[in-house]
Amino acid sequence: MNANEELVIDVRNLTKRFYGKAVVNGVSLQVKKGEIYGFLGPNGSGKTTTIRMICGLLSADGGEGTCLGYQVLTESELIKQNVGYMTQKFSLYDDLTIKENLDFVARMYALPNRKALVQESIDRLGIGRERQKQFAGTLSGGWKQRLALAAVTIHQPKLLLLDEPTAGVDPKARRDFWDEIHKLSTEGVTTLVSTHYMDEAERCDRLAYIAYGNMLTSGTLEQVIADAKLFTWEVQSDNTNILAAQLKQDPVFTQVTAFGRVLHVSGVNEQAMLASIKKFEGQGSHWQPIKSNLEDVFIHFMETREDNFA
Ligand SMILES: Nc1ncnc2c1ncn2[C@@H]1O[C@H](COP(=O)(O)OP(=O)(O)O)[C@@H](O)[C@H]1O
Ligand SMILES: [Mg+2]
Repeated sequence: MNANEELVIDVRNLTKRFYGKAVVNGVSLQVKKGEIYGFLGPNGSGKTTTIRMICGLLSADGGEGTCLGYQVLTESELIKQNVGYMTQKFSLYDDLTIKENLDFVARMYALPNRKALVQESIDRLGIGRERQKQFAGTLSGGWKQRLALAAVTIHQPKLLLLDEPTAGVDPKARRDFWDEIHKLSTEGVTTLVSTHYMDEAERCDRLAYIAYGNMLTSGTLEQVIADAKLFTWEVQSDNTNILAAQLKQDPVFTQVTAFGRVLHVSGVNEQAMLASIKKFEGQGSHWQPIKSNLEDVFIHFMETREDNFA
């Protein structure tokens, strides 16, 4: 990493134990200024706990580092004031209007130029000034999430910590939400965002995958995919169900997944797979090598490394 690049998050070996069990186990994370960094992993893998340690809401049992230049272990007050943190189930007051919700948040932060900031925030939201008197409870899921983002950015933080901000939001609304994150990124705002959606992961500059509290891989999309050293084929056959059952009997194929009428078949031992493929091609199936996608790669990391952690 270029030494000149400013690290907005720089934490090393963060560890958290609950009742003696490590739920975050030595996680290190470096996020550069302006970057959109994706944080992925199954439920219960430690994403929320890691985010809460980074913003100083939860004290780490081990490890250290900085967030926005402040020490996560000792300067949590300063961190909390300067990040925009959207919790997993962040919600607004349904019985307050859009404007009242934003005004409420601005008061909580005791912002001096509150009125102007609220108006700016409404304008930026793009919902139209005439709708600012609409109750938040009557907004669509997509608008609710964008209003939530407006609320956590009203104090103009340099770092956003977004914990599954688009869970349960429809694809178009998720895309709009991400357009706003990209816009903020071009303005120099840094974002760490946890998500389950692979299309969102692909819109990040870099990403990390965590399972059982352990970081399994991190880097750009290309690096993460290359790191897995996984070989994948798309397979067509007259009867994919029967073929899938047969392929699952062959241990060289570690993943056999149906995508519509085709199968994605992956494994790590290319030579052994090629030998098996020849046999299956002889029986009438058609094999085309393709690039492994993120989902293939994450499942691979989970399956090959879980024995070490579980
Ligand atoms: N306050 C807590 N007390 C006890 N266990 C907790 C607490 N918070 C989280 N955990 C446990 O830590 C693990 C990681 O949780 P979490 O960080 O919420 O994962 P994720 O956000 O990836 O779903 C889970 O097994 C969860 O049950
Ligand atoms: Mg969580």
